[in-house]
Amino acid sequence: MKRPLVLLLAFACLPTVRAEVVDYVGEILPIMKEHCWDCHSNETEVKGNVALDPDVLFDQIGKYNIIRPGDPVESGFVERLKLDETHNDFMPRKGKPLPTTEIEKIEEWIRQGAIVDAKKPTEDESRRLAEMKPGTTPAAGAAPAQPGFHSWTNREGKIIEARLLGLEGDSAKLLLKNGKSYLVPLSSLDDESAAKAKRLAVP
Ligand code: HEC
Repeated sequence: MKRPLVLLLAFACLPTVRAEVVDYVGEILPIMKEHCWDCHSNETEVKGNVALDPDVLFDQIGKYNIIRPGDPVESGFVERLKLDETHNDFMPRKGKPLPTTEIEKIEEWIRQGAIVDAKKPTEDESRRLAEMKPGTTPAAGAAPAQPGFHSWTNREGKIIEARLLGLEGDSAKLLLKNGKSYLVPLSSLDDESAAKAKRLAVP
């Protein structure tokens, strides 16, 4: 029972871990379905020319659109949610204001680049992801990536940043930024990370 414990420790070291990017399909779509769907979906009605279905949301995202990647303050989309309920432009029309936690989630999503589906980023989104480090804002003075550190994802979708020290049997020896190293069984990493470990371990 030694290995599972070691693995647990490595992935439990969350403070050194990069948060996964907030994406639309994972975290924002459920909010939209609850509050906006009746009036803004190709499944129902498309008011104000805004459909919030993930496959067509790209039309609303861009430097000159209502959702401006990296800039929630300048995004008309967010502005409407924060207006007074009695304001003409307030959204959702005929509804209660969104809870603050949900508005903050939407702001965070836009701040992190307004990615529709982080699992299948478009070329444009991949570029934005590289520019905007998830979990940090440019103003916060993002630390430059340390050389040799990579992101590793386990089968539960958790991500850690670590340097690969090598392979030991069927495990990857990973060094975290806090200086601790762990043996992580390759079988516990997702396919992509396991393949990356094998590739990088080749001298
Ligand atoms: C009961 C229907 C209804 C609901 C629910 C609703 N809207 Fe709207 N929405 C409208 C109508 C009608 C318009 C067009 C008139 C206008 O722009 O004010 C509109 C326009 C918009 C626009 C403006 C588009 C632009 O080009 O400026 C945005 C953004 C928007 N809605 C977002 C939302 C969001 C986000 C929600 C959910 C939190 C939502 N709406 C819920 C009816 C609705």
